[in-house]
This record gives sequence, C-alpha cells and structure tokens, in this order.
Amino acid sequence: MTFPLLIDTDPGVDDALAILMAHRQADVVGLSIAAGNVGLAHTVTNGLKLVEVIGAQTPVFAGCPVPLVLPAEDAAFVHGADGFGDTGYLPASRGAADEHAVEAILRLSREHAGELTLVALAPLTNLALALRLDPQLPSRVRRLVVMGGAVTGRGNTHLVPAEFNIGFDPEAAHVVFAGWPQFDLVDWEACVRHAMDFAWFDRVVSAADPRAQFYAAISRKARRFNETHGRGGMIVADALAMAVALDPSIVRTAEKRHVAIELNGTTTRGATVVDWEGRLARPANANIVLEVDQARFEALVAGALGGA
Ligand code: BDR
Ligand code: CA
Repeated sequence: MTFPLLIDTDPGVDDALAILMAHRQADVVGLSIAAGNVGLAHTVTNGLKLVEVIGAQTPVFAGCPVPLVLPAEDAAFVHGADGFGDTGYLPASRGAADEHAVEAILRLSREHAGELTLVALAPLTNLALALRLDPQLPSRVRRLVVMGGAVTGRGNTHLVPAEFNIGFDPEAAHVVFAGWPQFDLVDWEACVRHAMDFAWFDRVVSAADPRAQFYAAISRKARRFNETHGRGGMIVADALAMAVALDPSIVRTAEKRHVAIELNGTTTRGATVVDWEGRLARPANANIVLEVDQARFEALVAGALGGA
C-alpha cells in the first residue's frame, strides 16, 4: 500500500539512493531541499535531475541556503564539488517549484494531515523553521524519520562527536529535537554498522537500468572515498533512513531515549546527547534504530536500481 512521503534532503550521493528508493514504493509528494552536502544551487539542481532520471513529476522546493545561526562547512570532499560526483551531467529541463520549501512542508502537512511520512535526510534547517512557524506541525505528520546524530559520540565531522547533518546546523537540530514529541532516529553509527559490501554494491549499480547507470556515475567518487578512508563498505546513510521509513518492519532493535543537542561545547558542538539511563526523567523523543535486517535493506536498495 502506498503512502504520501515528503523528503527533506540535500542531494548528495546517499540522498540520491534514498530518493530512488522512495519513488519505487511511496507517493513522493515533494522534495524540500536544504543546503548541506553542497550549496543550495547544487542540491536543488541535483534534486531536479534525479526526478527527471526517475521519470517522475515530483515537485522540488528550494529551501534555506544557510544554517540558522552560524556558517558551516559542506561535505563536497565526499560527494564532489557539485554534490553528485562531478560527472558533468546535463541539467534537468524542469525548474524548481515557485514555493519556498518551508511553506511547502506546512502546506503538504495540511493536505495530507494524519497521513504524511516525513523523512529528513539533511541538516534540519527547513524543518526547524517550519516548526517555529507552526508548532502544530508534528500533530499532522504521521511519522518523522531523521537521519542524523552519533548516539555514542562516534561522529563523522572534524568535531569528533558530531554527525554531519546535526553538526552543520546544531541550532536547527535543537529546535526539532526539542519540539518534535517522537521521531525515529537513524544515526551515523547505525549506518556504519549497515555499510554495504563493496563487491555487492558494484554488482547492483552495474545493472542496465538507467537509474542504476546514473547512480553508478554519481556515486563513483563517494565510493572511492569510502574505500580509501578505511570504511568497511559503502556507507549510504540516507538510504538506511529511507529503508526504515518505507518498511519499519526491517528494524530489529531500537531503543526509545531522550536525545538533546549540544550547542555550546568547544569540542562537542553538534553532539547528540543521549540519556541512555533515563537520569533526566525526560520523555523519550527519539526511537533510536540500532539494527535492521541487512538483507531486506539491501533488497530495497537493489529494487530501486532496477535489480531483483
Ligand atoms: C549525512 O550527512 C550527509 O553528508 C549525508 O548525505 C547524510 O545525510 C551522513 O552523516
Ligand atoms: Ca543527506
């Protein structure tokens, strides 16, 4: 059964895989685009191109070009200067919708009230602004899945404990984590545990399907980065979050805990602070996904690229 899905994203190589997966199984009502992996002009262009490759009509909404408070460094060193592996692809013929991403999030949440699944694969800038504009937003969203954080402090940024999406805009993450009563959290450490075997990944992206061919090209640089930086396989963080959004039954282990965002630490800004033992007696906002069924996750990825 299909369901309405809104993706807040900064495409991004792993975002691209997640967006491909979503279009195979859900009614994707929009891509709201943030800055993050690279600047907004590129993330919007990449979103539009991907929608064209898929052959969909999904509207793409440009969102916030900068974090809420402080500037942040992008992740072009992983994703390429254009965020899609610098392949020099021909831009899509269609342009972005004439509505700001934050307004689109609020409108779509009203149009699909009680049914909408929201998947946040980017710094939480757009979502934080939407929540500030309308604190009732969570009551209209059936489910929020966030890719972000590093729940035991093993992040992926130069500030050791911070994960990229949270570290890029900690204030936005704070607004969302403090204001959204309950969400699923797929953190970086879970993504590392569910990396894809390189040989398996190479096989899947070598399918004849045009989606696989496009993905093989844009992911080449990121794959090389993964291999040359001691990662046990290809980490596709946003794809794991999307798999959890599309099929919650793949989750094998999860724990509900209160998670807060560190805003001030000189070496810990952007850390996700988990109250593992419930010492603060605060309600658990995050359902922290710890383990998923890897075979079923991989089946969702392969299917999105035209495989079995
Ligand atoms: C997250 O940061 C981005 O670089 C990826 O697209 C993903 O959303 C992983 O830390
Ligand atoms: Ca992303």
